[in-house]
Amino acid sequence: MTDAKPVYPDYNATTPLDPEVIEAMRPYLEEHFGNPSSGHWYGGQPRKAVAEARARVAELLHSAAEEVVFTSGGSESNNHALKGAALAARARGNHVVTSRIEHPAVTEVCRWLAERGGCGGGHPSRNDSGEHHAREQ
Ligand SMILES: Cc1ncc(COP(=O)(O)O)c(C=O)c1O
Repeated sequence: MTDAKPVYPDYNATTPLDPEVIEAMRPYLEEHFGNPSSGHWYGGQPRKAVAEARARVAELLHSAAEEVVFTSGGSESNNHALKGAALAARARGNHVVTSRIEHPAVTEVCRWLAERGGCGGGHPSRNDSGEHHAREQ
């Protein structure tokens, strides 16, 4: 073990904040720290900021503001997206196929869908190099 700082490759897990982001966020971390869902005075400024951020993201994505959902991170996003898509498409089918090398934030939701969401499950097969094949096991 050396004291040399290793390269940090897992930017899926977390990243340092860009200084511009820190500056943009600072007022909401220090002064306007209220919950944007609160009806009282402290929620007002954060609510406006979230609405503005939502509109800006929607513009970037060419979507409607109501289609933009902010989440706390990857697990919550995967949970919403997978359950939402699977349950919304129930009339067209109930089989969810995922890969064995997915993050648990994906595989655990698929397990939930299979065990409690009324969906069958499956994994495409994989060879020793990790390549996937369409055939189901
Ligand atoms: C590929 C992948 N998906 C999902 C997650 C879960 O993200 P979060 O910790 O933001 O819930 C991670 C976290 O490392 C990840 O690497």
